Amino acid sequence: MLKLLGVAGWPVGHSRSPAMHSAALAELGLDWRYLKLPVAPDRFAEVVAALPEAGYVGLNVTVPHKEAALLLADRATATATAVGAANTLTFTDTGIEAENTDAPGLIAALSRPVEGRSALVLGAGGAGRAAAWALREAGAQVSVWNRTHERARDLAASLGVGLASHPTDADLLVNTTAVGLGGETSERETLEALDLGGVKPPEVLVDLVYGDRPTALVRWGRDNGAEVVDGLEVLVRQGALSLERWTGRPAPVEVMRRAARR
Ligand code: ATR
Repeated sequence: MLKLLGVAGWPVGHSRSPAMHSAALAELGLDWRYLKLPVAPDRFAEVVAALPEAGYVGLNVTVPHKEAALLLADRATATATAVGAANTLTFTDTGIEAENTDAPGLIAALSRPVEGRSALVLGAGGAGRAAAWALREAGAQVSVWNRTHERARDLAASLGVGLASHPTDADLLVNTTAVGLGGETSERETLEALDLGGVKPPEVLVDLVYGDRPTALVRWGRDNGAEVVDGLEVLVRQGALSLERWTGRPAPVEVMRRAARR
């Protein structure tokens, strides 16, 4: 049977994963298919249960299904359990395995070690949690800031990282909020929404948001001498780790990067 992979989300129309993974599968000489699966939240468990029989080997999971994916799996890696969400499911003879490659994907996207460096994570949703956990695991001194302070407080307490009532200077700044999504936000609005007015541009700026053009935050970082890692690079790295898990082969990262940016 033809082997299948896919990405389940709601909505999922904008996903660059099919292009990226299809290019990678071709490069590896694997005649598999990677498909887009629009799945409404109330159908998620039902749809996933039907996939193995249809030939699916694995599944990427995106908004809003990442927590549900972890819950329905038979087994989960330590990373997925600690993050509380899974973006990668693998269908095996002995059940569904949940993994989180968002966290190691973020670390892989950074060109230098973060051990001992200060890192400020903006945002306290699922993406903020994955980033804070990954950076802490990698040895960074992590703090979390969020527009709604209580959420940052809960996240900081549950991961044992620092809590920032206002953004402060840090070596590494990671935006995990939705600010900049849609592409219409100006630099001034962005800095205001993220309360970055008085903050020094970091050495390394990561913006998990991506679109067709650089976000206002990415432009701010570039204009101020930061090394910038955009959301597409993190997408490529998490995708590469997922693909390696499914195929057991090293992922052709450069091919995936080119396809994701096309
Ligand atoms: P995800 O799982 O992708 O992290 P989420 O749980 O919806 O998604 O979290 C979205 C994040 O973006 C939150 O940190 C949210 O801040 P609040 O907790 O205060 O809602 C943040 N966010 C969204 N819109 C924002 C805005 N206009 N300004 C500042 N932060 C914003």
